[in-house]
Amino acid sequence: MCGIVGFTGEKQAAPILLDGLSKLEYRGYDSAGIAVRDGDAPAEVVKAKGRLKVLAEMLDDGKALPGTCGLGHTRWATHGEPSKANAHPHVSGNCTGSGSGAVESDVVGVHNGIIENYQEIREKLLRRGYTFYSDTDTESIIKLVDYYYKKYGIGPVDALTRTMVRVRGSYALAVMFKDYPGEIYVARKDSPLIIGAGEGETFLASDVPAILKYTRSVYYIGNLEVARLTPGEVHFFDLNGDEIQHDTVEIAWDSEAAEKGGFEHFMMKEIYEQPRAVQDTLNSVVKEGRIDLTSVGLTDEEIRDISQITIVACGSAYHVGVAAQYVIEELARIPVRVELASEFRYRKPLLDPKGLVIVISQSGETADSLAALREAKQRGVPVLAIVNVVGSSIAREADKVFYTLAGPEIAVATTKAYSTQLIACDLLAIQFGRVRGLLEEERYLALIAELQTIPNKISRVLKDKERIQWFAAKFANAQDIFFIGRGLDYAISLEGSLKMKEISYVHSEAYAAGELKHGTISLIEDGTLVIGVLTQDHLYEKTVSNMVEVKSRGAYLMGLTSYGHYEMEDTANFTVYIPKTEEYFAPSLAVVPLQLMGYYISVARGLDVDKPRNLAKSVTVE
Ligand code: F6R
Repeated sequence: MCGIVGFTGEKQAAPILLDGLSKLEYRGYDSAGIAVRDGDAPAEVVKAKGRLKVLAEMLDDGKALPGTCGLGHTRWATHGEPSKANAHPHVSGNCTGSGSGAVESDVVGVHNGIIENYQEIREKLLRRGYTFYSDTDTESIIKLVDYYYKKYGIGPVDALTRTMVRVRGSYALAVMFKDYPGEIYVARKDSPLIIGAGEGETFLASDVPAILKYTRSVYYIGNLEVARLTPGEVHFFDLNGDEIQHDTVEIAWDSEAAEKGGFEHFMMKEIYEQPRAVQDTLNSVVKEGRIDLTSVGLTDEEIRDISQITIVACGSAYHVGVAAQYVIEELARIPVRVELASEFRYRKPLLDPKGLVIVISQSGETADSLAALREAKQRGVPVLAIVNVVGSSIAREADKVFYTLAGPEIAVATTKAYSTQLIACDLLAIQFGRVRGLLEEERYLALIAELQTIPNKISRVLKDKERIQWFAAKFANAQDIFFIGRGLDYAISLEGSLKMKEISYVHSEAYAAGELKHGTISLIEDGTLVIGVLTQDHLYEKTVSNMVEVKSRGAYLMGLTSYGHYEMEDTANFTVYIPKTEEYFAPSLAVVPLQLMGYYISVARGLDVDKPRNLAKSVTVE
């Protein structure tokens, strides 16, 4: 987690760094800092605990810190509590107190990732006379660069490559050397980092939105590579210090996509962007009413040969996998197993080389999902990634990529990326079913035609938002909320519950409706809110029975079902309807009211919807 930015050019660096960090705050927001150099003068470091706005106010939005070359960081604490001393940038030399002010250091830097052997490096450097000011792993790596730089009298690139050989872990590291004004050096292993190319200026960032306003032309630096950034020029080096070439890639996202556009929160804007995001994702593979997976790189022969599918993901992306399991197994009759990436990677799973591993990830940088991908590849199993961020690590390392076209997702809680992932899985399930001869032509075309109605139907669900807002206000002080459903409705319940707890801090749980009475029902008290999801006709009555069971124990019921099931109002105290659709696709509609519920309860409780406490959007550490 953490976000890093950098700039070198002719403009003032500090405002650009602060602006870039504001687009990366979703990656971490417990402290922030920048280091700026004015010509040959040493770097001036300013850091602050708390949100970026504290730092921005201290610096008068950057005007108080002159200079045209600098680095910035917004932190999500891993090693060491959130504090000014632990905030980045860190410096190689001696500094006062918490490392702010003009620093006569040879090396100043910022880091995203985790240095696993930092203790050992720290002890070695303490013995060599270095003083440490923070509890972070980052300070060790900055001081190690300085140590090699001086010990061997080598240049910045060699000092970095020596450091890379010595450290274990993951890093996107950006440093400035006192002897090299106007230059920034970066090194990368397993943490995201892009470099933006402008006219006479160069940018670096953890993610594209931070630099979109300035350039759409980016370089992706490879794993275990170093780059030297000067105004308008970038040179890349491998671990031997030999120069290598990379070409720029043009980013299609526009800068407005990363702004709030009149909405109070990114989350609401992104909820509203779902029809468009789903439509774009559909359009990317549906041609003249049929699915064409050429852009994904999957041939019919490969599809016919798949013996089993393992879906691996984390959080909401895992919930997509739970839904996809039902749809793929039913439409394509391929055995599917869904696994949490953090479990999969340590489980020594039994994988068939003729199987397919599908990794689902919005960011494409989630550490556990990336590790699971590598594990699968190492065992010779092909990996298909469903990813939103072009050029991300998972996209680059997977054998095949299905890009979701959600655009930049800034709110920490995913909404539109989740919806596009669901659609991508539906498209795969339909195509797999057709290619493997399980779907007749007529049914195949009808399923695709119905899938194309989903964007419009999501827009219709959004029209009901005031009713949900009103209902959410009634439950703003709820202690516990339970979500129940069966089959695909259970998959939706998992996502509804996660949305609720992560942004509103209300304890919530999702239960397969039939499982409640095996223990959890004892938690139901007078007034406990239970949300029943009932979009699957063949399971409808079963779930109604479970709702009645909790109602008779005092639960207050919300029912979420399709238009036509008006008898739900006899059971539930409050009912939300979604348009009728093919049952396989109902999760795409039913999730929307649940996203809105989480959102409005969070707003009613006065919480920071887009940046919930303790969370970061990209979980690039284990
Ligand atoms: C929840 C949420 C997370 C992510 C999870 C995986 O709202 O956003 O649970 O789904 O951290 O992230 P990606 O998809 O980037 O791999």
